[in-house]
Amino acid sequence: MPKGCKKIAVLTSGGDAPGMNAAIRAVVRRALGKGLKVVGIEKGYKGLLAEEMFDMNARSVADAIQKGGTILGTARSSEFATDEGKKKAADILRKRGIEGVAIIGGDGSYRGALGLSREGIPVVCIPGTIDLDIACTDYTIGFDTAVNTAMEAIDKVRDTSSSHERCSIIEVMGRNAGYIALWCGVATGAEDILLPEKYDFNEQNIINHIIESRKLGKTHHLIINAEGIGHSTSMSRRIEAATGMETRATILGYMQRGGSPSCKDRFYAAIMGAYAADLLEEGNCNRCIGYLGGEFRDFDIEEALNMKKEIPEYYYDVSKALSRSIANDRVAK
Ligand code: F6P
Repeated sequence: MPKGCKKIAVLTSGGDAPGMNAAIRAVVRRALGKGLKVVGIEKGYKGLLAEEMFDMNARSVADAIQKGGTILGTARSSEFATDEGKKKAADILRKRGIEGVAIIGGDGSYRGALGLSREGIPVVCIPGTIDLDIACTDYTIGFDTAVNTAMEAIDKVRDTSSSHERCSIIEVMGRNAGYIALWCGVATGAEDILLPEKYDFNEQNIINHIIESRKLGKTHHLIINAEGIGHSTSMSRRIEAATGMETRATILGYMQRGGSPSCKDRFYAAIMGAYAADLLEEGNCNRCIGYLGGEFRDFDIEEALNMKKEIPEYYYDVSKALSRSIANDRVAK
């Protein structure tokens, strides 16, 4: 096993997620508690290449745990995506005596971390993304806050949809993954939930469902559409034309990434952040942390990136069964 790190850095990368600050705090305080030095790198890999970094102490992360966003800032870097960029980043870290890096972000950040580890820098990744789309973990920091934020917004749109007897298409984030759409759709009792992993682009099915529900007395029709499918505005025009029901599109957007993290996000972030500091202190490298099968574990990053994650068929089946309950009623009669 390589020797343990005595000086580490921490950075956040890619899209921010509520709970990232709790993770930074945990890395910093756990590492300091073990006698390590900690450097904060600002603005992700971009800041690393620009050498935007500072020494951190326990007070550097004071008053951060309850805040949304990331106190270190984040960015996407095209320079770091190149081989030269990763080599330059590794040289900067070596020059500054930084022996390992904790990286908080999504799968794009994991790929960057893998490149850095191939340049000889020990790295440990912590899953920080609202999208829940990292295969080696059942939980990603930020997801819980994001789905609750989206759910509250959807409930509000539902009120006005009902008053006006409208159809509402509400688009939620998630890049190519449908987890946010699935959870919010089930939690708000949506009539249709469109997931990139499952959607067959047959709008006629949705149109038929709306017409049938209207006949049975439904006053609104809520469609949760995932970002990976998109086109909510043009979809709303087509649905209105085909059903005669006034249809509006609402794209929730970046509000889903902000706000004070939920207790669950803070707790998972605390454990995962501390775990990352432990791994670096023990000299582990090229690892990423996951919560899988009810326990916190760590994986080889490449192995994790090759793992596949799918929406459980049963969840999908239940979501469809519950959203079609009015039609089911008629069948029962
Ligand atoms: O990965 C988090 C996320 O919010 C996705 O849901 C979304 O597709 C993407 O980031 C948007 O990224 P950007 O901030 O670069 O627009």
